[in-house]
Amino acid sequence: AKNVGILAIDIYFPPACAQQAALETHDGVSKGKYTIGLGQDCMSFCTEVEDVISMSLTVVTSLLEKYEIDPKQIGRLEVGSETVIDKSKSIKTFLMQIFEKYGNTDIEGVDSTNACYGGTAALFNCVNWVESNSWDGRYGLVVCTDSAVYAEGPARPTGGAAAIAMLIGPDAPISFESKLRGSHMSHAYDFYKPNLASEYPVVDGKLSQTCYLMALDSCYKHLCHKYEKFEGKQFSLSDAEYFVFHSPYNKLVQKSFARLFFDDFLRNASSVDEVAREKLGPFATLSGDESYQSRDLEKASQQVAKPLYDEKVQPTTLIPKQVGNMYTASLYAAFASLIHNKHSTLAGNRVILFSYGSGLTATMFSLRFQDGEGPFSLSNIARVMNVDGKLKSRHEVHPEEFIETLKLMEHRYGAKEFVTSKNDSLLSPGTFYLTEVDSMYRRFYATK
Ligand code: ACO
Repeated sequence: AKNVGILAIDIYFPPACAQQAALETHDGVSKGKYTIGLGQDCMSFCTEVEDVISMSLTVVTSLLEKYEIDPKQIGRLEVGSETVIDKSKSIKTFLMQIFEKYGNTDIEGVDSTNACYGGTAALFNCVNWVESNSWDGRYGLVVCTDSAVYAEGPARPTGGAAAIAMLIGPDAPISFESKLRGSHMSHAYDFYKPNLASEYPVVDGKLSQTCYLMALDSCYKHLCHKYEKFEGKQFSLSDAEYFVFHSPYNKLVQKSFARLFFDDFLRNASSVDEVAREKLGPFATLSGDESYQSRDLEKASQQVAKPLYDEKVQPTTLIPKQVGNMYTASLYAAFASLIHNKHSTLAGNRVILFSYGSGLTATMFSLRFQDGEGPFSLSNIARVMNVDGKLKSRHEVHPEEFIETLKLMEHRYGAKEFVTSKNDSLLSPGTFYLTEVDSMYRRFYATK
């Protein structure tokens, strides 16, 4: 199979959302802390009738319908998620309800889990399957689904929730440049979920930022090395039109792109302009560790990288700023933002993606856009996703209500024998929602 990659995408996020500015006031922090300090505008969250299973049921059903894909045509289904509802039964098996109805139970794949990286592992599995000898000619389907919620404190405004589905096959409008990849994997306790009775992670915020940036540097180094090996010339930021980052909050994305700019300067000072060389010069002799701690370097590199950031990164930031961290779906929601904003001009462009999952696992990889055909064209993907429509039809709730919801969910997590309010008033037609968890912990869903 040639040009294997992403044929179609759909995205779902819950309609309930809280404005970051309202959260600042409510939490009594200084004005601008979440909106400018973290760079976030708004945060979507699951109410008691939604969870990662309902969101993934919704997004898969919607993708199959809107692109008119026969469910029998799916041969592999992979799910990435770090929201544990069951330690044994995969989310994938819940999604099989959609396919069993059509007599298709011949579908490989299960769930992949490592913090925000599970979606990328799922995506690579599907792409590798289509490129392999075991491929049977049918489509792969990747689902990233997560609800990011944090305990009270500075991490809480970096929550979010969404599910994304991506159809994988040959002759794709978005194809993998499979040789152009770099990974960095190591052992760290930056963000993890050791308490199985709670949905909340244990997080060392500062350490997680440094781990993220160190993994970014390392992946970029490997990717540049491979590019040089295969292309016989140096890679720099000018070799890709867009850069998409896993987006826990926008400020980290700004810092990440600035870091890549600094990496270019260190590797080959002539790849950046005169002004940038002058501004970054004083930092050239810092050790790796010193460079992660230097506030002055952070400021200087963000400043010189700003024009390129506006061109190569800003178009990818819409959904993550509006919806928040969606864990496994965050990187792909940023990617979806790019298609939403630029679908008519992307053909021929290269985009570099950086996936990061705490603990830690990270990969930087490259995709190419082509003019797709019919349902699998970039403009149709943008039309189907209907990002503006979905953002506009959300329902803003007061911070008090958001916090009440989180409290209720703390009790519901891991619980049995309850029925939900079944209140579907905010949901659009076709959305799945949770109705009941019975005495055997079995979960039941209905569709609006
Ligand atoms: N106006 C403008 N900016 C402000 C204001 C204000 N009023 N107040 C603070 N800020 C800025 C700070 O200067 C800082 O910016 P800087 O990083 O450029 O210096 C920023 O807001 C954050 O403030 P801090 O006090 O440094 O950090 P805080 O205690 O708010 O915690 C953190 C932020 C660590 C990101 C926290 O939200 C967290 O732990 N989140 C979860 C972990 C996470 O997402 N890690 C990322 C990778 S791992 C993953 O994807 C889950």
